[in-house]
Amino acid sequence: MDFKDLAKEISSRSKIKINRKNIERLLGALRKTKLPWELVDLSDFPVPAVFESMKVLEEKEIISISDAGFKLTARGKEVVKDIHPVEDISCSDCEGRGITLEKFSDLEKKFLRVQKNRPGAIRRFDQGYVTPKTTLSRFAVAYERGDVVGKEIILLGDDDLMSIALGLSGLTKGITVVEIDKRLTDFIQETADKEGFKINVQTVDLRHPLPKEHVKKYDAFITDPPETIKAADAFIGRGIASLRAPGSAGYFGFTRREASLTKWYDVQKLLLKYRIVFTDIVHNFNEYVNWGYEEETRAWRLSPIKVRPRKNWYRSALYRFETLDGFRGNFKDYGEENIYEDVESSTT
Ligand SMILES: [Fe+2]
Repeated sequence: MDFKDLAKEISSRSKIKINRKNIERLLGALRKTKLPWELVDLSDFPVPAVFESMKVLEEKEIISISDAGFKLTARGKEVVKDIHPVEDISCSDCEGRGITLEKFSDLEKKFLRVQKNRPGAIRRFDQGYVTPKTTLSRFAVAYERGDVVGKEIILLGDDDLMSIALGLSGLTKGITVVEIDKRLTDFIQETADKEGFKINVQTVDLRHPLPKEHVKKYDAFITDPPETIKAADAFIGRGIASLRAPGSAGYFGFTRREASLTKWYDVQKLLLKYRIVFTDIVHNFNEYVNWGYEEETRAWRLSPIKVRPRKNWYRSALYRFETLDGFRGNFKDYGEENIYEDVESSTT
């Protein structure tokens, strides 16, 4: 079977550019799971294209679809017989993140206790937060790279409560949170007061340029933008604007679930124009807790089978970069524009 033609048909129907490699991976994933959300997780390309693929494969009688899941037909088994099943052989200790939390067992205990009462994710702000272990591991990476101890750090949106992990560590020089959701800013401020660390919290809409008092002030920023080019440009571009000097660091998450590699290329290219250089991209570093409003999302509407995810399926890569001489940020004002959705996005 020619996967190139199949890829072409799916690309044209889903309006998302996919290739032979994506099909190969999807079929390899089909040899491992029959559940829609696990299939997306293993296939590593945008949800709307994965689900469109399943419809095409059903029409071609390669799979059958029922409430129990996807099943390869006799013809399908023939098609996939030379495809290697997808395997997860990432390190079980660190879950493939490449960092240990051994040094931070006290912090881990405190953070796990404190985050229990956190506000849930709400759809209005495209929220979806990561597991506590992800937040702690992100902290550990930033610590290891020299971006925590004695540093001024800004969080642009802090759904993941990085500010609390940083605050509890007592290692930073200063922590600032700009966040649009008052439930979160209140929770972070109350936690800081209770646990006795200092934090500067402010309500900011990142569609507008960063307030002057935050420009060129920080050694590092951390953000997790919605997965469109414009939102990435806005959130990460504001982050770069907040950085003090060459050698300052930026951290952000970017997924394959809502972004094709073409979009990855566009985002990387536009960020390079700000004169930054990527130092790290860690695959599937960020694991998101199922956010509880699945049924309201486009992903749910597109799914050929309406079953709720049994385990966390949404992951993103952790990106880190550093600024070079002559770096600059994004000061464009997007007004009230909806910069949060595009053809590849599906979880808002
Ligand atoms: Fe490991």
